[in-house]
Amino acid sequence: MKKELEGNLIFAPLPVLMIGTYDENGVPNLMNAAWGTQSDYNEIYISMGTHKTTDNLAKNPCFTVAFATKDTVVESDYFGIETGRKVNKIEKAGFHAVRSEKINAPIFEEYPVTLECKVSAFDDHGLWGEVVGMVVDDRVLNEDGKIDWDKVRLISFDSSLNKYRLVSEIVGEAFKSGFEIKNK
Ligand SMILES: Cc1cc2nc3c(=O)[nH]c(=O)nc-3n(C[C@H](O)[C@H](O)[C@H](O)COP(=O)(O)O)c2cc1C
Repeated sequence: MKKELEGNLIFAPLPVLMIGTYDENGVPNLMNAAWGTQSDYNEIYISMGTHKTTDNLAKNPCFTVAFATKDTVVESDYFGIETGRKVNKIEKAGFHAVRSEKINAPIFEEYPVTLECKVSAFDDHGLWGEVVGMVVDDRVLNEDGKIDWDKVRLISFDSSLNKYRLVSEIVGEAFKSGFEIKNK
């Protein structure tokens, strides 16, 4: 039997996106954002409040988006519960930033997969970014040069239980598994 569930909207799975920016002095910052998605072929959208990150974006319209991993779950949560307005979070967490070669935004050694983005729009509803590059550690690539998410150990945000979950095994073939029914 199905039941109407009251309360906040639950949408799943939500990603755990780490938004990297520089302030006007070149100090790197990271924030955690779960309400984001790919919104077009080369574009992403993130629902954004007001943060140190948005202070930084107003001065320098470039950012990186890294995908949080099981190995970085403690630090990734920390980047969502503390503000760079008060603390140098990167130093405190012991993370390491290098400047992207394409944009004025930091790439963090600790995250294996990172998108390089330029702000395309930014208003009360959120932030849209044009993705101009993607930087990946070769240790998470398979023999065909594709990202192996099993090696990344990607996590998602479970807003129903306020937990982080491992994105796990492959269970089907996209654009293929359905042919089992289509071809009947
Ligand atoms: C799991 C999780 C998801 C979050 N998702 C978002 C989000 O999508 N949008 C947002 O504006 N803030 C989000 N936050 C809150 C920010 O990460 C938080 O306010 C952070 O301190 C901002 O950092 P900053 O001030 O250094 O930029 C999230 C926090 C957590 C822990």
